[in-house]
Amino acid sequence: MIDVRIRHLGELTVSAQGLGCMGMSHGYGDSDDAQSIETLNRALDLGVTLLDTADFYGAGHNEELVGRAIAGRRDDAVVATKFGFANRLGEPTVIRGDAPYVRQACEASLRRLGVDHIDLYYQHRVDPRVPIEETVGAMAELVQAGKVRHLGLSEASPETIRRAHAVHPITALQSEWSLWSRDLEAEAAPVCRELGIGLVPFSPLGRGFLTGRYNSVEGLAKNDVRRTQPRFADGNLDRNLAIVAKLEELAAAKGVTAGQLALAWVQHRGEDVVPIPGTRRRRYLEENLAALSVELTPEDLAAIEAAAPREEIAGARYDATSLSFVDH
Ligand SMILES: NC(=O)c1ccc[n+]([C@@H]2O[C@H](COP(=O)([O-])OP(=O)(O)OC[C@H]3O[C@@H](n4cnc5c(N)ncnc54)[C@H](OP(=O)(O)O)[C@@H]3O)[C@@H](O)[C@H]2O)c1
Repeated sequence: MIDVRIRHLGELTVSAQGLGCMGMSHGYGDSDDAQSIETLNRALDLGVTLLDTADFYGAGHNEELVGRAIAGRRDDAVVATKFGFANRLGEPTVIRGDAPYVRQACEASLRRLGVDHIDLYYQHRVDPRVPIEETVGAMAELVQAGKVRHLGLSEASPETIRRAHAVHPITALQSEWSLWSRDLEAEAAPVCRELGIGLVPFSPLGRGFLTGRYNSVEGLAKNDVRRTQPRFADGNLDRNLAIVAKLEELAAAKGVTAGQLALAWVQHRGEDVVPIPGTRRRRYLEENLAALSVELTPEDLAAIEAAAPREEIAGARYDATSLSFVDH
């Protein structure tokens, strides 16, 4: 029996773990829609409410997939989607946060999802050319129009978070947070806590790496973006595998998998933290949800952190181009 608890992101009530849907359409090689729909339905059956998608994932395919899964059971889901990447897939990145674009992107997402409102609408990346007040002002108008219930930001800097929150309450910050990506702990997380903004760690399994499933790039599909990510690059991969080996040892001692240990560590960051591990498979979904029941003592947490010290993580979390779109 899986115990899927409840947590709060600001005023929004969600399952203590969400489901990241990106890999069902984007980034990690080819997918099977039927399998993805089964996984989405299984998640909802088990009490997972928070489904995380974005207009950019698979150029709309991911939102349509989520829409298909929730058709007929809309009330079981808390639908979170994002706007901001305005380029076509494969073309140079264009970030847009101007008001007309926000309105247009929201209409397109509502249509693809087949819903009359989005529960949590994030700006995927901050547009450096547009004041955040304009972007969040346009997002707030969507709330007033009943098209969106709650607002979120992704990879936003502490200053942007404060300015955005002054325009309209921000419900959640979605940023990368895992044992090997802890940047937001210094400033962004404390600011969110001060303002009552919930935290949604993305890639909490280190893009799957912390599960111990990947030990070479050759095993990844040709169109898998991890092939271009520094931590999977030659030289770095082996050093990072040494960290995973230590996590596997600690996990075995607790009778769990390395992925469950990594997820439990994220879950122990606080009551305001709701990770969204991504998977296309029911088996991994269930394994990840079971991590909600893994209790870690302060000694366990210290041992886990000692196994993955920041200075030993080899490679940046994104390549230089992708990092340049992160708000600093
Ligand atoms: N806001 C942003 O900029 C941003 C960026 C990246 C991601 N996200 C969101 O965050 C979600 C999660 O991030 P992510 O998918 O990048 O990374 P992740 O959750 O850290 O890892 C996902 C990868 O791990 C594999 N996996 C999952 N559970 C596993 C298990 N128990 N055992 C072995 N392998 C397992 C998945 O495989 P299968 O798919 O083959 O099952 C997938 O390849 C995404 O789906 C997306 O919604 C947001």
